[in-house]
Amino acid sequence: MSSKRALSRVIVILVQPVEHSRMTSQVHVLLCLLVLAPAVSGSSDHKGAAECLSSTFPESRSDFPLLLNCLGLVKEAVEVGVQAGVHAKNFLEGWHGQRLRLVDLWHQPSQATSDTNHFYVDIANIHGADVRRQHRAHCEARMEESLRLGRAEIVNKDSILAASEIQDGELDFVYLDARHDFTGVVDDIRAWWPKVRVGGIFAGHDFVDGEFPEGDFFWISALREVLPGIEQHTHVTRERNRFPSFFILKTEAVSSLVPREVDAEAIARALYTNRSRYFKLWQEVPDETHRDGGDQFLPTCRHLCGQDCDARLQEFTPTRTAGSTLRPFACGKEGRGLHADGIKEDGDISCGVEVSLDAEAYHSVCLDRCNVTCEQRTALFSTFGAFVQ
Ligand SMILES: *[C@@H]1O[C@H](CO)[C@@H](O)[C@H](O)[C@H]1NC(C)=O
Ligand SMILES: *[C@@H]1O[C@H](CO)[C@@H](O)[C@H](O)[C@H]1NC(C)=O
Repeated sequence: MSSKRALSRVIVILVQPVEHSRMTSQVHVLLCLLVLAPAVSGSSDHKGAAECLSSTFPESRSDFPLLLNCLGLVKEAVEVGVQAGVHAKNFLEGWHGQRLRLVDLWHQPSQATSDTNHFYVDIANIHGADVRRQHRAHCEARMEESLRLGRAEIVNKDSILAASEIQDGELDFVYLDARHDFTGVVDDIRAWWPKVRVGGIFAGHDFVDGEFPEGDFFWISALREVLPGIEQHTHVTRERNRFPSFFILKTEAVSSLVPREVDAEAIARALYTNRSRYFKLWQEVPDETHRDGGDQFLPTCRHLCGQDCDARLQEFTPTRTAGSTLRPFACGKEGRGLHADGIKEDGDISCGVEVSLDAEAYHSVCLDRCNVTCEQRTALFSTFGAFVQ
């Protein structure tokens, strides 16, 4: 659209002065047009994309709508990992597109899957059914108008199942913010990459690799393993003191990349044994204590994790945030309840409202997260002690 308009403007500018001039100029102009026309129409995506990437490069994930609007990606979008819909609502306010499908597993038909994945160190992985239900209620309340108008649609399904019900090339935009463990991310990339059309954008949150109080995140490694060569096409937003998002413009060239099949569990294990600070600690604990619930490991894990929290405090500035972003501690009975000073809860719905967050509360939430993730690390390392000497 915009490049066609640009082309006709070029024609007008070039043709007007020609009307009163000599034949040679006309030939010259024609030549110009001949050169211009195929160049512009043939690479219109590229040209528009380059312009949009420079004029609307997303500084933070809240800028994605501007980029998508600029690129004309305004039909179908999907967000995976919606929780209480805070990001989804902001997204829809800025995006001119038709429909955003919200994929999350708010209601699980059974509890069967809850304890099966030991490679999943993530505070988001301890939500009980109550918290999930609360999230969905808040999400529906927050998005009420969009849901009614059909601009938003709830898809209460596992990410991989939801992807399987969408056609390849159907989506303008996918934003993955569900799992961050290596195997989970690998599965998500393989499931969702083909769903994005050529010219569309494949994106995700928490584009980091490492061990954090919130969990062990593997987006960078997973992308590298599954889509080798994609690094040079991967853009990263520039948030400060927050985890960034990545995005990939699926150009013709990039779309020829096919996600590789990898032995995700073996690679995950190798990643931990090769470079995990916590696994190193675990290995330093005398053998007999490995099996008794991590009595020695837990305190050292908490200590190391607590140092990350201390370091963060140096960078922290008081802020306001949706209670649900303090997940799961601000939500419901199944969270631990957040009673730290400085968290001001309005009424009962601590999970959905905005709360102010001062340094002390921030630090205490961080330590809380360390408690959760250190317990998960204990469970994880007990399962593969046998593989590693
Ligand atoms: C782990 O380290 C070994 C030995 O250095 C190396 O061969 C392997 O590629 C590494 N694996 C990963 C996933 O980093
Ligand atoms: C974290 O665990 C330690 C040890 O069990 C406990 O003393 C502390 O109160 C816990 N912190 C929070 C915030 O639950």
